[in-house]
Amino acid sequence: MAPPAPRYVEILPATEADLPALAALAGDIWRQHYPGIISREQIEYMLSQMYALDTLREQLRTQGILFVRLLVAERFVGFASFGPQPELGVMKLHKCYLLPEFHSQGFGSRLLQYCESECRRLGARRLVLAVNKRNVKAITAYQRNGFQVAASVITDFGHGFVMDDFLMAKELATNEN
Ligand SMILES: CC(C)(COP(=O)(O)OP(=O)(O)OC[C@H]1O[C@@H](n2cnc3c(N)ncnc32)[C@H](O)[C@@H]1OP(=O)(O)O)[C@@H](O)C(=O)NCCC(=O)NCCS
Repeated sequence: MAPPAPRYVEILPATEADLPALAALAGDIWRQHYPGIISREQIEYMLSQMYALDTLREQLRTQGILFVRLLVAERFVGFASFGPQPELGVMKLHKCYLLPEFHSQGFGSRLLQYCESECRRLGARRLVLAVNKRNVKAITAYQRNGFQVAASVITDFGHGFVMDDFLMAKELATNEN
């Protein structure tokens, strides 16, 4: 059988106009990926808090958080966001999500490498992130890309929901090779 045709991949900045589609995509991904990791109730609660358009717009307008979209053959299938932390030279990867049918094909690594390169360009020397301890697929992808567990943290998210996360970190090389 002939190998599958290579698919055209683009990683593009997201603007305010892209945020409704991004929030809808987040809903699709979260409702497919997170059952078994967190409860359905927590999924809906966190989506309503973290992906409310006002919240996303505020992050983009005033918090210096940037959003990027990953398109495969012109279809919007994933996104990431990252932004500054209080500590100089540190940036945080806030989001990194792909539709499940696009997992395990190297697209997550491409998205991560793009974010790392942008963070480095913006002066970061260290990139940090939080990931649910039960999200083995994501933890494995981050480890494969050079992130290491730095700490364990439980965050109260209100309404009886907590986030039981690993904090992971990667030192960003100063030179591009
Ligand atoms: C986390 C996430 C972005 C990782 O994306 P991913 O594309 O699955 O991860 P990777 O890029 O590391 O994929 C590597 C896999 O693709 C395979 N692969 C195929 N072609 C490849 C290529 N050209 N380059 C690299 N890997 C390739 C690798 O062999 C590996 O396979 P395996 O998973 O069977 O070991 C993705 O799993 C995801 O969106 N998860 C749900 C959302 C989520 O939990 N996000 C994190 C929140 S903190």
